[in-house]
Parts: sequence; C-alpha cells; structure tokens
Amino acid sequence: MEPRARAVLAVLLLLAAQVTMATGETRCNPGEYEVTSLRRCSKLCPAGYYVSKYIDRDHSVGECRKCESGTFRAHPSEESSCVPCSQCREADQEVVTECSPTSDRLCQCKQGNFYCDSMDCTESCFRCKRCEDSTILQPCNATRDTVCAVKIHPEAGGSACVLPTWLCILLAVIVGIAVIVVLSIAAAIITRHYRRRENPKEPGSPV
Ligand SMILES: *[C@@H]1O[C@H](CO)[C@@H](O)[C@H](O)[C@H]1NC(C)=O
Repeated sequence: MEPRARAVLAVLLLLAAQVTMATGETRCNPGEYEVTSLRRCSKLCPAGYYVSKYIDRDHSVGECRKCESGTFRAHPSEESSCVPCSQCREADQEVVTECSPTSDRLCQCKQGNFYCDSMDCTESCFRCKRCEDSTILQPCNATRDTVCAVKIHPEAGGSACVLPTWLCILLAVIVGIAVIVVLSIAAAIITRHYRRRENPKEPGSPV
C-alpha cells in the first residue's frame, strides 16, 4: 500500500471511531463489552469471576477466573480483579453471612450487647441500655435498644411497681376487692357476736 493511501485509510478509521464514540453506539450485545482497541466485543465474566485474560490479537477469546477466597464480584463485569470482602469489627460486630465469590460478608452489631438503629452508628455500634431496677420488656437486639418497664412512681423509690402499667392496676383492683370482702366478713362476725352478748334472750328463743 502506498504511504498516501495508508494515511487516508488511517484518517477514515479515526473518523469512523469518532462517529461511533460520538453516538455512543456499540455493536456489542447485552452481556458483552467492547474492546475499543480491537473494535471487537467480548463476553463479560459472570458474577463470582474476574477477567484473567483480555482478548487481544493472540487471544481471540477472553478468559475468566473464579474470585480468590476473601474476594467477590456481585455482578457480571469486565474487571480484572475481584473486590476484597468487608471485615466485621472485632470489638462490636459479628458475621451474619460469610463472604462468598458472589456476595460480600454481612456484619451486624453483636447481639445482646450492641445495637445500631440509625445512620449515626456506622463507625461503631451503641451499647445496649441496662434496666437498672426495672424489668426488661424487650431485650436488646442488633437493630433495637433494650426496652425497660416504666415505673409508675419513679420518684417514690422502693415502692414502685416494676410490672407493666395495666398489670399494676389490675393487681391493685384485685387487692382492693379482697380487702373489702375480708373487712365485710369480719364486720359481720363481730356485729353478730356483740348482738348476742347484749341481748342473750332474743325473741323466739326458749324461756
Ligand atoms: C429486633 O427487634 C425488633 C423489635 O422487636 C424487630 O423488629 C427486629 O426485626 C429485630 N432485629 C433483629 C436483627 O432481630
């Protein structure tokens, strides 16, 4: 080929490439990516794999290799490596789901001691509240703090009812009724006793 013809061809190719880039068109199918330097398409590596060999003049077909242990790729890609899995914090986190080639390791706050219920605890979990001298209504879990029973008279000190409010009221009513019944019976017995003493000859009794 003449040098001049070669130059013209190069310019034409360059123009064609620019048109393709400008329109954003690729000739590749879904699930493929374009190897720009070769103007060819290559299949994406599936989730859990990375591209170990890109296609080039020597390798007409690219190669995929499984993510190495401790790394993952969640989606098909043309990346040449997998992503290192997250580490759960030793101090306040535990593993929910282990790392796999297609998914990252999932961590949560250590159940029973720590929790995280907002965006404020991404760096470290909050410590679970302790119910000092009231009962636990709902134990702490990874996403919710402990719920303690509310005392009816927190300022009255030792005499506070630590049970749920409705139960305290129910107990108070039952105790109240029991006291009234016992007092009524006692009153009836005492009244009868004194009446007999003051008035031994009751009408209708033998003379
Ligand atoms: C924590 O407890 C709350 C309420 O009891 C519940 O909705 C939530 O799913 C629990 N979270 C976990 C991680 O068990």
